[in-house]
Amino acid sequence: MTENKRELHSAAPIGMFDSGVGGISVLREAVRLLPRERFIFFGDTKNAPYGTKSREEVLRLSRAAVEKLTEEYGAKAIVIACNTATSAAAATLRMEMPQLPIIAMEPALKPASLLHHDGIVLSLATPGTIAGEKYAQLYALYGKGVKSIPCPGLMEFVERGELDSPSLLSYLEATLAPYSQQKIEAIVLGCTHYSFLKKALHQLCPGVPLLDGNEGTVRQLRRRLEQEGLLAPENAEGGVELLSSGGENAVKQMRFLLDAE
Ligand code: DGL
Repeated sequence: MTENKRELHSAAPIGMFDSGVGGISVLREAVRLLPRERFIFFGDTKNAPYGTKSREEVLRLSRAAVEKLTEEYGAKAIVIACNTATSAAAATLRMEMPQLPIIAMEPALKPASLLHHDGIVLSLATPGTIAGEKYAQLYALYGKGVKSIPCPGLMEFVERGELDSPSLLSYLEATLAPYSQQKIEAIVLGCTHYSFLKKALHQLCPGVPLLDGNEGTVRQLRRRLEQEGLLAPENAEGGVELLSSGGENAVKQMRFLLDAE
């Protein structure tokens, strides 16, 4: 009986959400590493951006996203594919739903600290993430040589599908200009949207490692599913369903980013 129940449960989908298309960068990694799983991804485009909203508002929106994914779609686990929502909501949601595995993200300051020697590390994230308590804790441990740069307005370029437009490049140039005379040892992409800006950043900072937390998050998801006996059965066929509060065009943009090389 218990085994049956577990079997049923392990065949359920994994729910993932973000304020918009950014979390698709995490989903891509998840599909690659966990091909037998089914994923339901919800982009809350209508309420984007999260990064300039209050903590309370982001918690409310995140709770609604998790309820939707568990109650309407029967998700067996949740991935918060958003650094801002993690910072504002992960601890509270884990307390409110102790039975549900909730996997969350954090800016990759720890891996970046291994690359830091005598130069600097730039950490780009939303204003909400950088102002949060979780970031302060991470910074206290791994912030040596790190310049934290809040980037209001940057996720919007990705939402509009502008991954290498002249205005995006000017935004990034202006952001990086104060550090042009320093040795940049790594750039932390502390917002899931920014993973889609790797090409543009490589162009501006050739050879500088760009670190996001996507692979680490998915490895953590796999470990957690293993521990809970919730990995999809051997013969399961994986898949992806995309949902958005922003309508058909937003779903198209997510599909485009999911399939892009
Ligand atoms: N993609 C989100 C993150 O990782 C947030 C972007 C936003 O909504 O401001 O922080």
